[in-house]
Parts: sequence; C-alpha cells; structure tokens
Amino acid sequence: MSETVEITFAPLAAADAGALVVFAGADLKLGANTLAHLAGTQTLLHGAADTLKFKAKATSAMDLVRPAGLPCERLLVVGVAVKPDDKPLDFANLGGFVAGKLGKAKVIHVLFEGPEGEWSAADAAEFALGFRLRAYKFDKYKSKKPDGEENGVSGQDLTIVVADPSVARRAYEAREAIAEGVELARNLVNEPPNVLYPEAFAARAEELEKLGVDVEVLDEKAMSKLGMGALLAVGQGSKRESRFVVMRWKGAKSKKTAPVAIVGKGVCFDTGGISIKPAAGMEDMKGDMAGAACVVGLLHALAKRKAKVNAVGVIGIVENMPSGDAYRPGDILKSMSGQTIEVINTDAEGRLVLADALWWTKENVKPKFMVNLATLTGAILVALGVENAGLFSNDDELSARLAEAGKATGETVWRMPMSPAYDKLIDSKFADMKNTGGRHAGSITAAHFLKRFVGDTPWAHLDIAGTAMSSPATDVNTSWASGWGVRLLDRLVADHYEER
Ligand code: BES
Ligand code: MN
Ligand code: ZN
Repeated sequence: MSETVEITFAPLAAADAGALVVFAGADLKLGANTLAHLAGTQTLLHGAADTLKFKAKATSAMDLVRPAGLPCERLLVVGVAVKPDDKPLDFANLGGFVAGKLGKAKVIHVLFEGPEGEWSAADAAEFALGFRLRAYKFDKYKSKKPDGEENGVSGQDLTIVVADPSVARRAYEAREAIAEGVELARNLVNEPPNVLYPEAFAARAEELEKLGVDVEVLDEKAMSKLGMGALLAVGQGSKRESRFVVMRWKGAKSKKTAPVAIVGKGVCFDTGGISIKPAAGMEDMKGDMAGAACVVGLLHALAKRKAKVNAVGVIGIVENMPSGDAYRPGDILKSMSGQTIEVINTDAEGRLVLADALWWTKENVKPKFMVNLATLTGAILVALGVENAGLFSNDDELSARLAEAGKATGETVWRMPMSPAYDKLIDSKFADMKNTGGRHAGSITAAHFLKRFVGDTPWAHLDIAGTAMSSPATDVNTSWASGWGVRLLDRLVADHYEER
C-alpha cells in the first residue's frame, strides 16, 4: 500500500544515475563534498538560479533536467538557507519535501550534506523517515493503477550519501519502526467500513503478536461479564459484534514495572445511531476509529524498535448504527465503574466507549499514566482547526511533556481548560451524568465526561477529530488519513519513559 521505498545509506561513490539531490544555502553555497562532486557546473547552477529566481530559501527547490556536464538525469537543488530567526530545519519535513518534488523518480541519490558542513546521522534518519512517510499511498482499491505502475513497478530506490553509513543505518532502524507504525495507522483509518468492522479490526491488532506483543481480545459476552454497559450500548444496534482489545508490550527490564497506557476510541463507523447524522460527509465517519488505529500503530512501533518500556494499548471497537436494537436517547446505561449515564444523543458515543475503556485500564493496568486518543467532537475543529489536537488533562507534567513531544514531531497539541463549572454541565436529572452538555464548549464537556472515569490516574485526552483525517496535505503526508499521534507518543515514550 505504501509506495515501497528501498532506503540505503552509502558513502560517496558514483552517485550519478537517476536523480541527484543536493542542498544549497544562501548564494547557492554548497557543502565541500557536494562542491567537489559538482565541480565545473558552477556557471550552469548560477545561471539556472538566476533564470528561475531561485534563492535557496528553506524550503525551496530548483529542478534541472539533464544538466549539461553532469551524468545524472536530473539535479534537484534544495534550498536550506535559514535566517537566524527562522525555525530550524526539520529534517523529516525536508525528506518529505524532497520526496514530493521528485514524484515518481525511481533511482535517487541524495548528497546528504549541509552548506556549512556535515549533518548528523540522526538528521539523515529523520530525512529518510519523512521521505518514506511522504511516499505513502493508499490505492489498494483502485483497479487501474496510474501510468507506469500497471505492473506494480512503483518502487523507489533511495540512496542517502553520508559520511558514516553504518551509524546512519542504525539511527534509521528506530525510524523505520515508527514509519511502519504510522503507515499501519493510516492503513487502518483509510480502510472502508465494510472491510474494517470491529472483528476485522481486532484481527489486525492480533497481528502484533508477530512482534512479541501479547494481544487479548474480549468479545461481547466477556465485556458483559465485566459490566461494560456503556461500550456495549453503542454497539448494540449493529449486526457487527463489538470487541475490546488489550495489547501488552513488555520491553522494560522488569515485567512488573508499571506500564504506560494508551487508550483509543475505535468506532469503525459512526452513523450517529438513532440521533442520525446528516448524509453529507458521513462517509468520513469510517475514520472514527483513528484513536484506536494510532494505539495499534504505536504498539507496532514500540515493539518493532524493541523500546525499553512496558506499554499497554487498550481499544474499544464498535459500530454505531441505527436499528430496532439500537440504544436510544433517554436510555440510562450502567457503566463498568457503576456510574449511570443518561443518553441524550446517541451520536455522543465515543465517550461511552472510552468511559468503560478508561475505567478498565485504570483498574486492571494501574498505569503510570493514561493517554487516550479519540476523534471525539466536531467542536474541536471549530476551536482549533486542523493545526493542533485538543489536549485535556488532570496533570501538568504529562501535559508539558506532550506539548514538548508535539513540537519535536510536528504533531502539535493545544491544552484546553477544564474546571468544575464545565463539569456541572453534564449532571443529569435522572442519572449520575448525561452524555452531552449542550451547545457550548462541546469539546470541554466531552473531556469532563471522560474525566469522571479516570480517578486519580494521571491522564490526558487528545481530541484528534481535526488532525487524524481529512486534513490538508503536508510535507510528510498526502493521504486522507494522517496516522496522527504515532510519532507524538513514540517520542513521549522515548524521551521520558524508556529505560536507558
Ligand atoms: N465522531 C464524531 C466526532 C467527529 C466529527 C469526528 C467530525 C471527526 C470529524 C462524534 O462521535 C460525534 O458525533 N460527536 C458529536 C457530539 C455531539 C452529539 C455532542 C459532535 O461533535 O457533533
Ligand atoms: Mn458520534
Ligand atoms: Zn464518533
């Protein structure tokens, strides 16, 4: 599904076939090796830059086809000049940018060197990660492939020329695991809802066992025994059975070390139920399991790179359908916590799934912290658009760490307020709480609903309705599904919770 990119790290040799990529700073300044490699082409380069008004600003490019005096078919000069108050270069985005410029080029050599000298092995690894993420495509359901790809020849051969290839390759190994995790999350979100219903989703999660993840799948009978009345109500109108999946990765020295827990909303399709949604755009609700997809993608990444951490992923997977068996507005549900919930709107279903998932996790995993991800509210799109996920938390340290990991990966979060006055909005006349809090502050009242199921556990809720799908193309993603959160949480774990 991903455009396969074969990535190699190599020393400078005959980097001449196919497309050649070099980097230039202000005044077309090139690094020493690059300069030596392109010797004799200075007049050509400066002339072309003049004609094309190419100033080598970060991030821009000048694409020369069959440049005279060079044996390559194509020379891509990528501008990386940053002014002192510009943002520093983000190498993953740079890799994605280059992949975008090169399009379908098959054989690519990148002289990975800055105008001022060497870039690090970690930079090369990030560049490779970004390149690969940009090359991702979801076209498995297109029976006609684009021109030139009819016979499945879509592979790209990317050689990144670095001073020390073995160090770069090692640095890339962890990034490769992350790339796979992001791609897995994107694949799950992009899959149509007739293919990826709850049982099918659970089967995909079970594939993590190949990487040494312990996967446990609970069916409706098992959930009913546990008293998961909130989650089960959401799925009861669907012909498809609900599932609850627990994925355990034990990478810490001691299996007893308290794990980190990541919990995901997995609504394989959200029609709204009896409070049915309007038709326009309803097809997008196949992505309402993006939180759960991120959890599966993250566990893939952690297990594949053998992260030294104990991590538990928990997902509730259901389909929200209207039918004679569906739950109704007015119903009062008993959650696993014992708290009762009056249903006001059956379209506020994600919080019901998470109520039981969070409670189960708190009680059974006793984690260091819980982070949940959910495409929870349209209101978060109104508040933050597609630039930031909404962050809601009862813990300042966890929030700060998430914000920091967000800045580092580009998967940014913005903390939203919580307080007792908002919490009161979900008190119910008939039950302990109701599942919607009225028109105002919809994302915040949804977060308060979740908060009633986390006890004292440090917890953060990420509302990813704006970032997980249907977001505009970026340097590292042109697919409908972004795989949002895998890079963020992998970084959170790597920076703060892994053993050395
Ligand atoms: N899955 C939706 C939220 C959503 C909207 C995700 C747009 C992605 C894009 C969620 O289940 C939902 O329907 N929320 C309602 C809550 C309301 C009924 C209180 C909403 O946002 O309108
Ligand atoms: Mn809904
Ligand atoms: Zn939903």
